[in-house]
Amino acid sequence: MTHKGTVTLATERLILRRFAVEDAEAMFRNSFSDPKVPIYMTWNTYESIDAARNYIVSVTDGYNSLSAYHWVIVVKELGEPIGSIGVTRYNNETQCVAIGYSIGSKWWRQGYTSEALKRLVCFFFDEVGTNRIEAQHDTRNPNSGKVMIKAGLQFEGVLRQSEHNNQGVCDSAHYAILAEDYFRRKSPHIGKSTTAATTVNDTNTAKSVGSGSLDVFATPMMIALMERAACECIAECGLIADGQTSVGTAINAMHTASSPRGAAITATATITSVDGRKVEFDVAASDENGEIGRGTHSRFIVDAERFMTKARA
Ligand SMILES: CC(C)(COP(=O)(O)OP(=O)(O)OC[C@H]1O[C@@H](n2cnc3c(N)ncnc32)[C@H](O)[C@@H]1OP(=O)(O)O)[C@@H](O)C(=O)NCCC(=O)NCCS
Repeated sequence: MTHKGTVTLATERLILRRFAVEDAEAMFRNSFSDPKVPIYMTWNTYESIDAARNYIVSVTDGYNSLSAYHWVIVVKELGEPIGSIGVTRYNNETQCVAIGYSIGSKWWRQGYTSEALKRLVCFFFDEVGTNRIEAQHDTRNPNSGKVMIKAGLQFEGVLRQSEHNNQGVCDSAHYAILAEDYFRRKSPHIGKSTTAATTVNDTNTAKSVGSGSLDVFATPMMIALMERAACECIAECGLIADGQTSVGTAINAMHTASSPRGAAITATATITSVDGRKVEFDVAASDENGEIGRGTHSRFIVDAERFMTKARA
């Protein structure tokens, strides 16, 4: 990691910047005196603006070090800090940072903390060269976990009775995102989609393909249409070279509504991840009356000739 220190970062609605001694009054009013904030934290509400100022001075003293990351979260529209976010510990060997955050309850549930954490995720991967960003929460505080998920961190497990906070000993849920996850999701193809279409006819009803007895669109034909959309999407994105094709490796889909003969069916495949030769999709199918199915699908890009040689062996 190449530490950069607490540099100012911006998002659509927020400025993340260094604490300043002048923030004491607003931080006290907006967050530090709010009894709802430290319920699952290790600190208690501050009793006075002076106590808030003393804490802020201890933080600002640490800014001399480039490995000190401690931002106040300022809502642009408000022009005041409402909380803070920062690195609670880091490890240069594993190139890992752990993040913690809190904001005043008046501003909860407006997406502010998720917005701040997403910005930090970009900063640490793009600019500091971090390999792993982790965070943890008391299992009784699930909204904090939702913030982690929204910022792209993945649930890794619960360490039972492993932490201590104002509620006593607690089970701690752990989340993390790796640099490889982050850069894979940054692929320019993420979000690209292709739609394939068909009409329910003699060849694709459950009765005609043998997957059921009724004259309605067959589930395997819906799956096939989803796969066709995904194949076409891979081709349109230029992800296959000459001699290559893609093969389906997994599909997990629900068929939730029936479509009679004559119904016009579409299936759309949208790329959600590209990891080397593995491409993942969200897939959805509809008829004139709305959605009839949805799921996820994975494909692998292969060399067609080599694949067939292996298949025949
Ligand atoms: C946990 C905390 C940081 C969440 O911040 P926030 O800015 O409200 O989070 P967001 O608005 O980004 O919300 C993230 C998700 O949690 C949900 N959420 C947040 N607060 C909620 C609440 N009080 N009740 C129900 N859902 C809530 C949001 O609706 C959102 O879910 P969604 O995507 O399904 O809509 C904030 O509650 C807080 O500061 N708590 C006190 C300190 C703390 O616990 N810090 C974390 C220690 S690990």
